[in-house]
Amino acid sequence: MRRRALRSKFLFTRNFLRHPLRTGSLVPSSRFLVKRMLSRVDWQPARVVVELGPGLGCFSREILRRMRPDAVLIAIEMNRTFARALRNSIKDRRLFVVEGSALHLDTILTRFELGLSDCIISGLPFANMDNTTRESILRKCHQVLSCRGQLVLFQYRLLLAPALADIFRSVERSYEPLNIPPAHVFCCTRE
Ligand SMILES: C[S@@+](CC[C@H](N)C(=O)[O-])C[C@H]1O[C@@H](n2cnc3c(N)ncnc32)[C@H](O)[C@@H]1O
Repeated sequence: MRRRALRSKFLFTRNFLRHPLRTGSLVPSSRFLVKRMLSRVDWQPARVVVELGPGLGCFSREILRRMRPDAVLIAIEMNRTFARALRNSIKDRRLFVVEGSALHLDTILTRFELGLSDCIISGLPFANMDNTTRESILRKCHQVLSCRGQLVLFQYRLLLAPALADIFRSVERSYEPLNIPPAHVFCCTRE
């Protein structure tokens, strides 16, 4: 278990050194940040869960632990190495790893024919994207969420706060100091 975690951290850091902007952080998120974010989700009604930027799966494993047995998790990851590693390391029939960009979230979801998403968990490095890409992804998240759907994301800076307030009806914010670096958590609801 500890060896897998170490190997995972090493692979993550190596990818950060190769693609710093896209990877967005030097190490995977801490279990404290994972717990803080996932505690915001109402898991009981969630049947279609989407994860954006799962990396090596520190959120995915915990999402699957909390998810209903009949729910599905669609994890969209742009980095091929991460997408492959995720497929190989988590064997759960409810998990579908898609190698692609969150920018195509709407078309990817349509392909699955599952309807709207009840919950989106994002690990995307929004701060490293240009304004158009950032806003387009946020608007697509809003578009594909069911009426009681939630988007939960973390950011190391508050840059995203105005755009989130613009797009979502309600946005709550908290802070997790036990992460490298410490992170702001945003929980947004569609209606
Ligand atoms: C900060 S890491 C977060 C990884 C993991 N969720 C965690 O919290 O440790 C950002 C992840 O988003 C992925 N990513 C960046 N841009 C993306 C995009 N447009 N679509 C999908 N994944 C993307 C990166 O490859 C990386 O795995």
